[in-house]
Amino acid sequence: MQQPATGAPRPRGLELSLLRRFPDVEADNLHAHDATDELILDRAGAELAALAAGGQGGGALAVVGDRYGALALGAAGGHGLERIRVHQDPLSGELALAANAARLGLAGSFESLPLSAKLFAGATVVLWQLPRSLDEVDEVAALIAANAEPGVRIYAGGRQKHLAVAMNGVLGRYFGNVLPGRAWHKSRVLEVDSPRDQLPARAFPRKDWNDDAGLWLCAHGATFAGTKLDIGTRFLLDFVPLMRPGAARAIDLGCGNGTIAAFLAASRPELRLLATDQSAAAVASAAATAEANGLGGRVTVVRDDAMAGFPANSADLVVLNPPFHVGATVHAGIALKLFDAAARVLAPGGELWTVYNRHLDYRGQLQERVGPTEIKGRNPKFTVAVSVKPAF
Ligand SMILES: C[S@@+](CC[C@H](N)C(=O)[O-])C[C@H]1O[C@@H](n2cnc3c(N)ncnc32)[C@H](O)[C@@H]1O
Repeated sequence: MQQPATGAPRPRGLELSLLRRFPDVEADNLHAHDATDELILDRAGAELAALAAGGQGGGALAVVGDRYGALALGAAGGHGLERIRVHQDPLSGELALAANAARLGLAGSFESLPLSAKLFAGATVVLWQLPRSLDEVDEVAALIAANAEPGVRIYAGGRQKHLAVAMNGVLGRYFGNVLPGRAWHKSRVLEVDSPRDQLPARAFPRKDWNDDAGLWLCAHGATFAGTKLDIGTRFLLDFVPLMRPGAARAIDLGCGNGTIAAFLAASRPELRLLATDQSAAAVASAAATAEANGLGGRVTVVRDDAMAGFPANSADLVVLNPPFHVGATVHAGIALKLFDAAARVLAPGGELWTVYNRHLDYRGQLQERVGPTEIKGRNPKFTVAVSVKPAF
């Protein structure tokens, strides 16, 4: 396919500026699509048109890493494609895609699926917003190579600053051709095809022993910190003996690989644990971590956006290492949303324990949103705070 002559992708049938991020955090500096989406849709345009012209009898489209639906709905709205299979790791992205599709009359055009063989089975075209984590690239590439059609064409794009050369190496383990296209508006698309006959052995979830936590940590590719113990979490674990004495119901909010839930379950036998995250990879990883440490019966894992489905006043203790990024943008919104969620789900007298970078100074927000807040510890990088939900 030819590079756009002017350097600017031609507009497709769907105006991407109509997309919203809702129910994810919305703000002036946060957008629902980017130049990478436009470039991927442009570069894949001829393949998508051919798929549509053939009545989709000869193939299928899979989309992975779509942020808020620009790729899936761009293909559906711009080319009339249907039965598009989509995987998005964060639940907020999945909900935004569904809301955008409903608003734009495209609700029946796609199906959201887990990251699995079924997502890519028989796929002839794959549109992929590349993640920054090489492990995530590895896990997705392995599934595409093992399950898509041998003639599959993959359009994998990202912001140039996030596209490491090492990514080409990872993709090259699974595919014979990895061809970087020209950059446009600081984005670039890699055209990838020819799955290899001999594929590396399945590697996910990864599982590593961590001496500091005294636990096996397990992780799928998209999981924050992978199988490592985050250094903020490492500091927070020192305070576990002080956390709400007598608590029975505890929540590891934003559980990632499930370190906090497993550590609490192992060190406080009286606790029943819920581990929750909006990331599909995180919940699968937290469940694997609990199992690997013989704690599967003590930890229940739930995928949810900021505990939206959890009853109010139902926990004695919430433990949180909040993200301070929304996608690639540094933004406090997501931490504040999680503080509000903890305030709702904690029972009166319940405690929220958080760790955050020293420079963030969340104390005022915690005080206002949850209740009286005390700083329990500081090291050169992090602060640990406890906030108590008032009785009334
Ligand atoms: C800084 S990481 C901490 C992960 C893990 N607790 C640890 O200590 O390694 C923050 C986690 O919050 C999760 N998260 C972000 N937004 C969320 C939301 N709206 N609802 C639930 N979890 C969310 C992310 O997926 C990520 O796993």
